[in-house]
Amino acid sequence: MVSSKLRVWDLPTKVFHWGLVLSFVAAWLLRGDRYLHLHVLAGYLFFFLLLFRLYWGLAGSFHARFSSFIRPLPEVWEYLKKATGRKAPRHLGHNPAGGWAVLLLMSLGLMISITGLLTLGVEEGHGPLAGILGREWAALFHASHQALAWAMLSMVGLHLVAVFRESVLHRENLPLAMLTGYKRTDTKARAENVQPHAAVALALLGVMLGFSLWWGRGYLLHSGNEPYLPFSGPMLSRNALWEEECGACHLAYHPSLLPRRSWNRLLTQQENHFSEDLYLDAGTISRLRAYAVTGEAGNTVTEASWKIHNSIPAAKTPVRITETGYWKNKHKDIPEKLWTRSDIGGRHNCTACHLDARQGWFEDGAMRIPFNEKNMTRIM
Ligand code: HEC
Ligand code: HEC
Repeated sequence: MVSSKLRVWDLPTKVFHWGLVLSFVAAWLLRGDRYLHLHVLAGYLFFFLLLFRLYWGLAGSFHARFSSFIRPLPEVWEYLKKATGRKAPRHLGHNPAGGWAVLLLMSLGLMISITGLLTLGVEEGHGPLAGILGREWAALFHASHQALAWAMLSMVGLHLVAVFRESVLHRENLPLAMLTGYKRTDTKARAENVQPHAAVALALLGVMLGFSLWWGRGYLLHSGNEPYLPFSGPMLSRNALWEEECGACHLAYHPSLLPRRSWNRLLTQQENHFSEDLYLDAGTISRLRAYAVTGEAGNTVTEASWKIHNSIPAAKTPVRITETGYWKNKHKDIPEKLWTRSDIGGRHNCTACHLDARQGWFEDGAMRIPFNEKNMTRIM
């Protein structure tokens, strides 16, 4: 029999496959707070690619269609039995076990995307699912998002082992075939594998990717020392008197950073404010109090206010933000020598590292550890 080459994987399927690999790896590597904007962008690409693959599983060429590779379970079982005995028959498209693995990977991917969008919505107030659920869901969504990503990573590991094994068994380079699309075959090219919609599909894929890039252009173009706007929170209340009276010696901390009882205590003790006398008269105090109480941590739902508030035991009335559990926990890795550096000047000087401290947001994207101007080395 004459061996010939057949195009098994069509172009949209290949673009999907390698695009999914890249976006997954990128999202995985960029998972810290500092890179949240890029993580989200990679996540959108990942999600759009999966949506495209659902469509292509119905409309794609023969080997791309679900109907060609989702086999009944007994057949999968038979295949697995043969495969463990090194007698796995060769399949041009996905083998019966691989077909189900594709479905499982895609389901995991979609669940990762959805829990990611939910986390983005409740934690950051961004994305299409923002505002539909309260912040108390954040921990659950975040944890599921992470657990699902680990599950997917293990599945990917299994997939790689299987691809390697099958490549050796049938002496063909399967990763290369996913790149070129071609596999050797000794049957005649199958008529059913024509790709009538490939051009339309590629255009659709292009539009979707273009859309997510356009949508995330703020993420890509963002640089420098501006607060990171796509993740800026809702505008918080401001007050000229507060800025004037409480912003003279340090940042006028936004009231959302401490609970009402703390502000009451600070204002009551204003004659002895960390060894300073604020010399406020009763009228000023009551106006400041009225403002602080409306914007206090219990009334505001930025991520920072929510988490600070929840880290303060009900019996405690801290007068420092920097002594709350959440604050201490978030800053515990910062070395002592950084706090005393002249361009930082102490824990209370939030603006040194948080570009959006004035707005009261403290968003992930707006954190910078400043360079030490003397020797230009980054301490963290
Ligand atoms: C005369 C200067 C001065 C003024 C005006 C002033 N403060 Fe302070 N404030 C200080 C000093 C000094 C500290 C202690 C800084 C440090 O940690 O060394 C401080 C610390 C604080 C802290 C604790 C920061 C932390 O570590 O978390 C809060 C909260 C605070 N001030 C609130 C206010 C409020 C509210 C007002 C306005 C009513 C105000 N301050 C006005 C001097 C001032
Ligand atoms: C020396 C730099 C520095 C100073 C000064 C500083 N922070 Fe931070 N802050 C950081 C860094 C770095 C992180 C990120 C820690 C992490 O994610 O592990 C952080 C994290 C946070 C977070 C959590 C943000 C998030 O969503 O993960 C909040 C809220 C916060 N800081 C509030 C404050 C407040 C309020 C002040 C002033 C009282 C302050 N910080 C002063 C460096 C600083």
